[in-house]
Amino acid sequence: MISRYPSKIRSGAEAKKLDGVGAKIAEKIDEFLSTGKLRKLEKIRQDDTSASINLLTRVTGIGNFFFSLLLLDLRENEHKLTHHQQIGLKYFEDFEKRIPREEMLQMQEIVLKEVKKLDPNYIATVCGSFRRGAESSGDMDVLLTHPSFTSESSKQSKLLRQVVEQLEKVHFVTDMLSKGDTKFMGVCQLPNKDDGTAYPHRRIDIRLIPKDQYYCGVLYFTGSDIFNKNMRTHALEMGFTINEYTIRPLGVTGVAGEALPVECEKDIFDYIQWKYREPKDRSE
Ligand code: TTP
Ligand code: MG
Repeated sequence: MISRYPSKIRSGAEAKKLDGVGAKIAEKIDEFLSTGKLRKLEKIRQDDTSASINLLTRVTGIGNFFFSLLLLDLRENEHKLTHHQQIGLKYFEDFEKRIPREEMLQMQEIVLKEVKKLDPNYIATVCGSFRRGAESSGDMDVLLTHPSFTSESSKQSKLLRQVVEQLEKVHFVTDMLSKGDTKFMGVCQLPNKDDGTAYPHRRIDIRLIPKDQYYCGVLYFTGSDIFNKNMRTHALEMGFTINEYTIRPLGVTGVAGEALPVECEKDIFDYIQWKYREPKDRSE
């Protein structure tokens, strides 16, 4: 990272001589060097999500050099960050990397195997871009349900907790970002390759969903987000409202009725009289 650059950068003007450093970055470097801090950085510290670190670098289009300064500064001030931010920082370089499909397949195998080992009645589906057949994915989105858990039954936080604990036990889940009764956000890693080299750490989300809402969830989290929007628009035209939990008919006054029964994704397509589309055909 920063060590790759000459150590004697004392001004933005000097940095500007480097490849990829423009006026904006030079300005930031001057601000950083003269005040020892950056307003943008201060804002991040006040913010509560590590995603904002990500966002900042994207939206401001900051190049590698400045970005390295930023990471370095954040790393020196780790104690000021929330746990979530610290994990985001710890694995920042890893989380920027896409996950090749081949690795997603191995990850899926581990998750499904461990889940079934606990209780064969669990149903788990890896959604997101992976389910759409993407050659690489940004993260792993796992949806989980169990016949004993419905929107009518009482909360069963154990159903998610024991899955997370099992995945920790086999050293697949390595860190936790946040953990609720129905949503786990964390970090996972495949076991080392045969030659001993390690795989990058990856972001994984696991959501526990009541069985009767499962397929609306699977549909939603399979995306793409553009496809979801188009499908919801069509649903509205047909007098239905779809969200990540349910599909409900809209009354003449526009008020949504009771959730309709759904046993599979196709049921949802059928209600709105749309021809079923395989996940791989859901890019838009
Ligand atoms: P993501 O994991 O953000 O998207 P992705 O899996 O399609 O792509 P990536 O490889 O980068 O991870 O979200 C999963 C799905 O959730 C997404 O495909 C559709 C749905 N979704 C929306 O419909 N709207 C949203 O705003 C978000 C964040 C997700
Ligand atoms: Mg995803």
